Amino acid sequence: MLVIIKDDYQAISLEAARLVANRMHKKPNLVLGLATGSTPLGLYGELIRMHRSEGLDFSKLTTFNLDEYVGLRPEHPQSYRHFMRQNLFDHVNLDPRFTHVPDGMATDIEDHCLWYEQRILAAGGLDLQILGIGANGHIAFNEPGSSLGSRTRVKTLTGTTREANARFFGADEDVPRYALTMGVGTIMEARELLLVASGEGKAHAIAASVEGPITAMVPASIVQMHARAFLVIDRAAAAGLKGAYASSFEEAVITRRKL
Ligand code: PGA
Repeated sequence: MLVIIKDDYQAISLEAARLVANRMHKKPNLVLGLATGSTPLGLYGELIRMHRSEGLDFSKLTTFNLDEYVGLRPEHPQSYRHFMRQNLFDHVNLDPRFTHVPDGMATDIEDHCLWYEQRILAAGGLDLQILGIGANGHIAFNEPGSSLGSRTRVKTLTGTTREANARFFGADEDVPRYALTMGVGTIMEARELLLVASGEGKAHAIAASVEGPITAMVPASIVQMHARAFLVIDRAAAAGLKGAYASSFEEAVITRRKL
């Protein structure tokens, strides 16, 4: 995996957006995997800016989001479909028919998860999957203990994840207990991974994922097995790392390989 360490959140957002834009230029009909959470917000903001001021074109893109809460309608202000509309979809020229978010209201969940996997395959597979990381090492809603070969399915959220996400919900609203999530195996089939992390709260999870053993108890550690995984993290999130890492894709090109 290629680890890029930048000074701060703004710098990781710009670096990550440059990689996504580069892949969109190379392949206008890119199949892009999207993530929710606070961390990708800066990256999405930069992509929106590039769309507005540089004409970055989303019209041929197909997107698949990682996950969605069970029981929330797409219009619910805390649903991930709503999050994506607010923070990306409504600000760029994506064709809504080509955007996919798991349906938290699906009546037959198992059937829906199978359908989601099939849609990804029918689109040609994920070219680039954007990922955040939980303080507990989760990727998407694959909580510690998730099978490293898992596919899209329903997962029970841990107490810490529900607490971490409670900030988005009103006091009288309960954070959902279940979510639909792409599996670790689904994510690992993406041709490239781009994981972004910021802040000291992620330092432990990043150190365990990058330099620790591969274990289902830290689902993000499986990223070590991916042939083209890029981690763009800030100094605070990198605080627990012991190795030497690049500070930009350019530096990585010089020292390691052509991207
Ligand atoms: P965050 O969430 O970006 O809001 O920290 C990341 C995650 O839980 O995957």
